[in-house]
Amino acid sequence: MSEILTTAPTVFLETFGCQMNELDSELVRGALLTLGYRFIDDWAQADVVLYNTCSVREQAEHKAYSRLGLIAQRKRAGEKVVLGVIGCMAERDGKDMFRRYPQVDLLCGPGELDRLPNLIENMRKSQSLGEDAPRLSKDARAALAGNKSRRSTTLAAADDNLELLDLSRAFEPVDARSDRRSAYVRITRGCNKFCTYCVVPNTRGAEVHRPPDSIVEECRRLADSGVVEITLLGQTVNHYRYVHGSAVGRDGAELPQVGPGLNAFRGNSLTTAGVRTTTFADLLARIHDEVPHLARLRFVTSYPRDFGADVLEVMRDAPRICSYIHAPAQSGSDRILKLMNRGYTVGEYLEFVDRVFEFLPDATIAGDFIVGFPTETDEDFEASCALVQRVPFKNNYIFKYSPRPGTVAIDRFTDDVPTETKKLRNNRLLDLQTDVSRVVHERWVGREVEVLLEQVRVHSRAPATAVGGPLSREASAVVHPESKNVVVAWQRAKPIDGTQLLGRTPGDMVTVIDVPAGDWADSLGRICRAKVTKASPMLLHATPLTAL
Ligand code: 5AD
Ligand code: SF4
Repeated sequence: MSEILTTAPTVFLETFGCQMNELDSELVRGALLTLGYRFIDDWAQADVVLYNTCSVREQAEHKAYSRLGLIAQRKRAGEKVVLGVIGCMAERDGKDMFRRYPQVDLLCGPGELDRLPNLIENMRKSQSLGEDAPRLSKDARAALAGNKSRRSTTLAAADDNLELLDLSRAFEPVDARSDRRSAYVRITRGCNKFCTYCVVPNTRGAEVHRPPDSIVEECRRLADSGVVEITLLGQTVNHYRYVHGSAVGRDGAELPQVGPGLNAFRGNSLTTAGVRTTTFADLLARIHDEVPHLARLRFVTSYPRDFGADVLEVMRDAPRICSYIHAPAQSGSDRILKLMNRGYTVGEYLEFVDRVFEFLPDATIAGDFIVGFPTETDEDFEASCALVQRVPFKNNYIFKYSPRPGTVAIDRFTDDVPTETKKLRNNRLLDLQTDVSRVVHERWVGREVEVLLEQVRVHSRAPATAVGGPLSREASAVVHPESKNVVVAWQRAKPIDGTQLLGRTPGDMVTVIDVPAGDWADSLGRICRAKVTKASPMLLHATPLTAL
C-alpha cells in the first residue's frame, strides 16, 4: 500500500460565502476528522484541498476560481493532491467544471455533502495507484443533486441522507480559549422563494425543514458542551414550519420535510385544522425553555413577509432570545420588488418594521439591498434611499446586482444599469446607511448593555493583532457572511495603545471595552454588563459594570 494511504492525510479547507457554508464546512470537518483526516492551515502542504464555494455573486466565484490556479501549479510540479470544489459553485457549474478546470478532481454540491468522504477516499485510492490506474469517470468524481435538487414540493424528504451529516455533528467540550463559543444550527435547508436574482433555490434545492426534536436536541448538546450562543440558520428562517405525522421513518422517528412555497403563506392556507404543527415561534419557545443553560439564541435570515406577531411575542417574553432581526428589504421600489419576486411591497415592509418595534422597542434591524437591478431608474433608487432613511437599520449590506446563470432574472432582463451607475448608487446608499447607523448606535450612549466577550485585541501603533483566535475567524462571527464591513471598520479604527475586549450586544452591536494589559483569554465567552460611553456608526464603546 502506498504511503499516501498509511499516514494521516492532511486537509486544507477554505470557506467562501454565507453562514450556511460555514456550518457545512464545520460538519464536513467533523466527518473527515472521524475518518482520521488531519486539518492544516497550509494549502501548499495538504493532501486534500477543499474549497467550499458560493455562487450568490460573481465576485465570490472569482475568488474561488483564482484558488484553483494555485493547485494546478502544485499538480504540474508532480505533487499528489486531491482538489475538491464543494458547495454552490460545484452544483451550479456541474460537471462542466471538470472540462474547464482539469485540475479539479471532485465536485460535491451542498445537498450531497454526506457523500463527500467517499468521493475523497476513492480519489485518493485512485491517485495512489499512479499513472496506470484507470481514470475515474466524471460520475464517480461528482456528487451533485442536479434536477433532483428540486425533487418534490410535497413529499417528505425521506431519502434525505444529508440530515445524517447534521446529526453526526461532534460535540467536543468548549473552553474559554476556544473560538467555538458560538455555533450555528440549521433548521431549514434550501429555499422555495425564487427571488428572480438568486441562485440559492437552484444550488441548495427545495426548502426542507428539520424535525423540531432533532433541532432542540442539537441545541441542548451544544449548550452542554459549553456553547454560549446558538444562531439558527435558514434562508428564510421565519418560514420554518413542521407538520407532525407527515414525515415519519420506519422506526417512527420524524424526518425532515419539504416546506411550502411563498404562495402557501398567502391567506390562511397554512392552517391545517387538527394537524399538530411546530411553527417558527413554537420552535424558538421550545429551544428557549428546554435549553435553559444556553445564554443566547439568535436566528438568520428572516423573510420580511410573514414575520408574525407570534414570533415577536415569544421574543419579547424570552429573555435569552436576542432582539436582532436580519430581514433584507432588497429595494425600496415596489416596481423593482415585484420584478425581484419578493412578494411584499414597501408598505408591507414598513408595517413589519413597525410591528417589530411595537413588541421589541430595543430591537435592532439589519438588512440587505441590491442596487442596479435591471431597469432600476434614478427614481427607483431614490426610493431605496428613502427606505434606508425611514427605517432605523443598524446596518445594511449593499450589493451591486450581479446576473447569475440559472436565475430567472438573467433570462428575463437585460443587465442594463451601467457598472459606473451601480458603483455610484452603492456608495451613495452606503453613505446614507453610515449616517443612519451612527444615529442608531448613538441612541445607546448612557445605557447599560450585556456584551458577549469574543476577542481580545492588543493595540499598538503596529497593525492590530488578535489574541485568542485569528482576527478574521473571530470577526467573521460578527459580520455579514458576504461582507467584511465590520472587519474593515476594526482594521481602519485609529490605533490606540492598550488592550481591548471586543464583543457583541444582544442586538449584534460590536462593543469595545478598554481593559488593562494582561491575559484576558479566560474572560472570553462570558457575558459582561457594561455602560455605553461612546458610539460610532459601527461600534459602541463601553465601561464594564461587572467583573470581567
Ligand atoms: N446580485 C447581487 N446581490 C445578490 N444577492 C443575492 N443574489 C444577488 C445577485 N444576483 C444578495 C441579496 C441577498 C444577499 C445574501 O446577497 O441581497 O440578501
Ligand atoms: Fe435567495 Fe430569495 Fe431564497 Fe433569499 S429568499 S435565498 S434571496 S431566493
